[in-house]
Amino acid sequence: MTGEPVDQQDHVPQSRVSRETTDWSDDERRAAIIDSLPTADESTPLAAQLAADARRRIDLHGRQFPRPATTRVVTVANQKGGVGKTTTTVNIAAALAQAGLNVLVIDNDPQGNASTALSIDHRAGTPSIYDVLVDDAALQDVVQQSARIPRLWCAPATIDLSGAEIELVSMVARENRLRNAIAAYLAHRESTGTDRLDYILIDCPPSLGLLTVNAFVAAREVLIPIQCEYYALEGLSQLLKNVQLIKSHLNPVLHVSTIALTMYDARTNLAQQVAAEVREHFPVQTLRTTIPRSVRISEAPSYGQTVMTYDPGSTGALSYLAAAREIAERGAPGAPATNAAALAGEHPRIPSTEEN
Ligand SMILES: Nc1ncnc2c1ncn2[C@@H]1O[C@H](COP(=O)(O)OP(=O)(O)OP(=O)(O)O)[C@@H](O)[C@H]1O
Ligand SMILES: [Mg+2]
Repeated sequence: MTGEPVDQQDHVPQSRVSRETTDWSDDERRAAIIDSLPTADESTPLAAQLAADARRRIDLHGRQFPRPATTRVVTVANQKGGVGKTTTTVNIAAALAQAGLNVLVIDNDPQGNASTALSIDHRAGTPSIYDVLVDDAALQDVVQQSARIPRLWCAPATIDLSGAEIELVSMVARENRLRNAIAAYLAHRESTGTDRLDYILIDCPPSLGLLTVNAFVAAREVLIPIQCEYYALEGLSQLLKNVQLIKSHLNPVLHVSTIALTMYDARTNLAQQVAAEVREHFPVQTLRTTIPRSVRISEAPSYGQTVMTYDPGSTGALSYLAAAREIAERGAPGAPATNAAALAGEHPRIPSTEEN
């Protein structure tokens, strides 16, 4: 590594950056600053990481992401537990909101982890997604605004939701309840002149029950977080089969648009193998950005925060910001249709232990 620290991009040596940069486009200005950074010695992993973080910070901080043509409703699902669904939901949501977009998180998991991470009140008795699904409450009556991140809202989950799977069984149009509630909420926002939502992210429980089915019916896109560990692909074919079933019977536009590799540890061969295998099966859907295993990401919820506000300069926050940018740019008006068949939901078959 050369003499100058590369992790303090705020202190980029100004002499190297032309004074005329004010006339440049934002992209050109960022590129010039990145070019002016000293090159790190890539043989030292820590230095290389710091240099990569510095570049990302310059490239991403304060950047506005493009607005989609219409509200994108994305269900974050994987029936495998603890793979990073909630962490991905809240951090992508926070990153999109910080980049100027209006984002609603629907906490559709009785554990209420997304509500906790966003510091949204979800004590028993708080108006919540349970009231929406089971008692026909309007979403606008349960949605709370984040105190920390403007443009971010959350429909909380309380412990009541744990009974909803059973209560929904006997209800009319039980699979459509969340979809209807979202449609009514979007219409309500429009009729009251409230700014349009750009993203709705729905955090699901680790199961494929009626709560997850409601989320699949309500969404157009599915985001699957995959933890880069052994057994990562196990259960995935079941998940894809369910998406396909919902697509055939209940929601023809549903498709897996995004796969996020989470808790990636570049030092292990296993993580690299899992990532390579996922990319082989889902070359279009898998985000280029991987989310590293990071202590800062895992400790943020205990402060009622996402890592995006808890430690915005950390590798974990920068990775979620880069992932959010990829998602936003893929869905922007005029984005190239890289692989229409894949994005239309024709899932490749993947090997699975269930099929063996
Ligand atoms: N990139 C990461 N680095 C370190 N820890 C992480 C990372 N992502 C998630 N975690 C931690 O792993 C655990 C599981 O993550 P998370 O709650 O997001 O998974 P989940 O899929 O929502 O779980 P569940 O299936 O129970 O809903 C949490 O303790 C979280 O803080
Ligand atoms: Mg969760």
